[in-house]
Amino acid sequence: MYGIKSYVIRAGRMSDAQKRSYDTLSSRFCIPFVPDVNYNHCFGNENPVTIEIGFGMGIATAMIAEANPQKNYLGLEVHKPGIGRLLWEIEKRNLQNIRIIEHDAVEVLETLIPPNSAAGFHIFFPDPWPKKRHHKRRLITRPFTDMIAEKLRGGGYLYMVTDWEDYGNWALAELSATPGLCNPHEGGGLGGFAPPQEWRPRTKFEQKGINKKHEIRELYFVKEQ
Ligand SMILES: C[S@@+](CC[C@H](N)C(=O)[O-])C[C@H]1O[C@@H](n2cnc3c(N)ncnc32)[C@H](O)[C@@H]1O
Repeated sequence: MYGIKSYVIRAGRMSDAQKRSYDTLSSRFCIPFVPDVNYNHCFGNENPVTIEIGFGMGIATAMIAEANPQKNYLGLEVHKPGIGRLLWEIEKRNLQNIRIIEHDAVEVLETLIPPNSAAGFHIFFPDPWPKKRHHKRRLITRPFTDMIAEKLRGGGYLYMVTDWEDYGNWALAELSATPGLCNPHEGGGLGGFAPPQEWRPRTKFEQKGINKKHEIRELYFVKEQ
């Protein structure tokens, strides 16, 4: 779909604990990126699957999964230390309902996720790419949002949060123009943005934004039935 990536692999050494978790737990909780893998079968049950793109260190992911054992969570990330950290959280909390694919989310959606299958998408504080010449790297951009709409089941949701005003406005326009998605908060008091979802834990990049006095903007779109 794109030649342009929405990420650059960040430098950063894995801590000893992250490396140990990565070495010992990835065979159990990481799904290899190979064509025809059925990610639903990897959970061993038929519970609905929410896909998180770019979970970073994954602590919010683990907290959400722990609070919702009747739901499954598939995390997509390319940052190896973060994958090691989420694996550590999975073990610490004894979580059964998380699986990880270490690969570009755009290619994972294109290749492995069937249409009308995902119960939800979480995209928390995606890289904002603030310079104009980098806007083309932004994840929440059509036609990628069209693909998200295609992969969602009817009634499923996309929940995105950002601390960048310009990206928030950009994403609101892109998602509003995406066929099949509707905004239940359109015409509400927040100019189309959603009120904060009480169940979402604060993430590492959210805290960084708050420290810089950035305002948090939430976007919540639902796929038509
Ligand atoms: C700014 S960080 C936010 C991390 C976390 N959600 C948080 O709020 O702390 C964005 C993350 O998205 C990941 N990412 C960006 N594009 C991605 C892609 N196409 N596939 C998988 N991960 C991606 C990056 O590696 C990075 O860890």
